[in-house]
Amino acid sequence: MSYELFDISGKVALITGGASGMGRMIAEGLLRAGAKVYITSRKPADVEEAAREMSAIGPCVGIAAEMDPPEAVVKLADEIKSREEKLDILINNAGRTWGAPLEEFPDKAWAPIMAVNVQGPFTLVRELLPLLKKSGEASKDNPARVINIGSLAGKAVEPLPAYSYVSSKAAIHHLSRVLASELAGDNITVNAVVPGYFPTKMTAHIRKEEEASQEFIERVPLSRFGTAEDIVGLCIFLSSRAGAYMTGGEHVIDGGIYGCH
Ligand SMILES: NC(=O)c1ccc[n+]([C@@H]2O[C@H](COP(=O)([O-])OP(=O)(O)OC[C@H]3O[C@@H](n4cnc5c(N)ncnc54)[C@H](OP(=O)(O)O)[C@@H]3O)[C@@H](O)[C@H]2O)c1
Repeated sequence: MSYELFDISGKVALITGGASGMGRMIAEGLLRAGAKVYITSRKPADVEEAAREMSAIGPCVGIAAEMDPPEAVVKLADEIKSREEKLDILINNAGRTWGAPLEEFPDKAWAPIMAVNVQGPFTLVRELLPLLKKSGEASKDNPARVINIGSLAGKAVEPLPAYSYVSSKAAIHHLSRVLASELAGDNITVNAVVPGYFPTKMTAHIRKEEEASQEFIERVPLSRFGTAEDIVGLCIFLSSRAGAYMTGGEHVIDGGIYGCH
C-alpha cells in the first residue's frame, strides 16, 4: 500500500461537457489531482472562459465541440490527436435529456438524445483508440481508462418522464461492458459511472420547488444530493492505480437510492 495508489498526476484527460455541471466538477477535481485536462462545450466563449478559470488550478485546454452529429465527434478526436500522442483518461460526460408526459412525448425527442448520450461516446472511443492504446501499452499496471457517465435513471425506475434519456443511459451502461470486454486485451478499462442526483442544470427542476426537493431528499438514504467531492472521488479512483483492476463495472453513486432498496 502506498499513497501513490490514487496518484493521477501527469495523466492526460479529456472530459466532454467539462465546462459546466458535473463535467466541470470532474475537470476541477482531476486538475487538482495533477492531471492535464481537455474540456469541451458547444459554446466557444463558455469553453474558453471555463478553461481560463480552471488554468489557475492546472493545465486546462478548452475545445469547442458538439457531440452530434458524429462528424463533429470525429473532428474533436482529430483535434486531440493533433495535440497529444496518448490519452490516459477519456470521460464521456456530455449528455442531453428531454422530459414530457408519455402521451405527448415527441418522436423528435429520440434521435438527438441517443446521438449525444450513446453514439457520441462510441464514436469518440473508436476515433481515440490509437491514443488510448498508446497509454495502455505504457504500463500493464496502469491501463488507459474510459469512464462513461450513465445515470441511475438508466438502471432503476425513477419518477422521470424522460423516456429516451433513460433508454440512452441503459444503453451506455451496456455499451460500456461490451467495450470493456473488447478493449481489455489492449489494457484499456471501460467503466460506467451511474450517478443519482447532483445539483446541476439537469436537476434544477427538482431543486427549484421546496416541496419537490424535500420529497426527493426523503428518498435518499443518505439524505442529500451528491457533491463535487463525491463524483470526483469516484473518477479519481477509477483513473488511478487503485482502480486499475476494475473494468466492465457499473459504479452507482447515489446516496443509497439503488443499493438500499
Ligand atoms: N445531474 C445529475 O443529477 C445527473 C444524474 C445522472 C446522470 N447525469 C449525467 O451527467 C452528465 C452531465 O450532466 P449535468 O448534470 O452536468 O447536466 P448539464 O448541466 O445539463 O450538463 C450537460 C452537459 O452536456 C453537454 N452537452 C449537452 N448536449 C450536448 C451536445 N449536443 N454536444 C456536446 N455537448 C453537449 C453540455 O455542454 P455545453 O452546454 O457546455 O455545450 C453540458 O456540459 C450527463 O451525461 C448526465 O446525463 C447527471
